[in-house]
Amino acid sequence: MTVPPRLRRVVLTTHIATSVGWLGAVLAYLALDVTAVTSQDVQKVRAAYMAMEVMVLYVIAPLALASVLIGIVNALGTSWGLFRHYWVLVKLLLTIFATAVLLIQTRTVSYLAETAASSADPGELPGTLLHSAGGLVVLLIIVVLSVFKPRGLTRYGWRKQQEERRQQRGQRTAPVG
Ligand code: HEM
Repeated sequence: MTVPPRLRRVVLTTHIATSVGWLGAVLAYLALDVTAVTSQDVQKVRAAYMAMEVMVLYVIAPLALASVLIGIVNALGTSWGLFRHYWVLVKLLLTIFATAVLLIQTRTVSYLAETAASSADPGELPGTLLHSAGGLVVLLIIVVLSVFKPRGLTRYGWRKQQEERRQQRGQRTAPVG
């Protein structure tokens, strides 16, 4: 798909803002998660769980969904394509996986926030450290893939490349007029 350069830059900027914003929001969530699990201050623990719910529902989940959607639009609007290069394909799969786990996890976060609000000792609640730290690692891997763009064409990408080369050769040898 050929997209005008200006529009391409707008899409890429939106892609970077939403997806790296997602990573930043997970980092802030992780700080709350650590506070919820380690603090001795009951008020602080309660507030941390409640803030975690707000962050997941109104910041992290929307940014994750936007990353999937805009990431796909971004890839399809460039010569990278969605299924041609392993680094893009791996990014797609990791992003979908992280988003799916996150959406399943939102129920647990809401349950923890509700329980923390009414419990006398919210410090006993387990937190969600495994998920928040795991999510952060996955997002960091995705950023590294995005910046380094390791070489490697998929079978589909290789076939497309051959087709395009054949077409270009055909155009160059075609008689003019
Ligand atoms: C559906 C998932 C995703 C797909 C298909 C995708 C695809 C792409 C493609 C094709 C590019 C190159 C665009 C260009 O150079 O014009 C790109 C750039 C980028 N992506 Fe993604 N992406 C996805 C998710 C993510 C996520 C979750 C993050 C961060 C956590 C991310 C971070 C970036 C960054 C920082 C760049 C800019 C790299 C640079 O220009 O050097 N992407 N993405």
